[in-house]
Amino acid sequence: MGRGCFITFEGIDGCGKSTQINMLKDYLGKEAREVLLVREPGGTVIGEKIREILLSKKNDNMAPLTELLLFEAARAQITSEVIIPSIEKGITVLCDRFYDSTYAYQGYARAMGRERVELLNDIATGSFAPDLTFILDITVDEALARRKGRGEAEDRMEAMGIEFQRKVREGYLELAAKEERVRLIDAARPAEEIHKDIIEIIKEKL
Ligand code: TYD
Repeated sequence: MGRGCFITFEGIDGCGKSTQINMLKDYLGKEAREVLLVREPGGTVIGEKIREILLSKKNDNMAPLTELLLFEAARAQITSEVIIPSIEKGITVLCDRFYDSTYAYQGYARAMGRERVELLNDIATGSFAPDLTFILDITVDEALARRKGRGEAEDRMEAMGIEFQRKVREGYLELAAKEERVRLIDAARPAEEIHKDIIEIIKEKL
């Protein structure tokens, strides 16, 4: 049995990741591949507890370094407990956010140092990297309109505001320009079109 693939999805809040991940999961399932969908932060009992701390608006006094280390702690847990063992069993793992989120949100938007974040990402994952990463790119205005349409309460990170989201997007664009495994997808299009592009890239790359 071969090793499974590790595919991650990234983008600003409201970019349409969940829709695309679920469409891809269905597609791969039909191809009789065993697929596991997980999300960050979370995906383990310990990770979900860390997620609660990170996203609760009650924790508005959280120091930026605490935030960074908690994201990395949740990541260390899901990587060793779930992602690596699944991939070794031949399962394809789709992850809703992974360490590129930390690069864009904490490293770039919070200006905590991209090199420092890259080092911590490496430590948290034991240098285990995705095979392929999709960044679903849309403008902040469009993402905001989609989020409003959903009517969900915003979490602590979303409450950071529109300027912060703009910086996150810039961080992602910077990353896409320098990392070969990262593919930038124009996500301001109908879901079916985006899905087709994603399938094409997966077929060509994996
Ligand atoms: P979530 O509800 O999962 O957002 P989404 O549905 O947009 O993926 O919340 C995760 C939030 O945490 C989101 O605003 C992005 C942020 N985040 C970071 O700031 N750094 C990270 O390393 C990760 C994984 C997420």
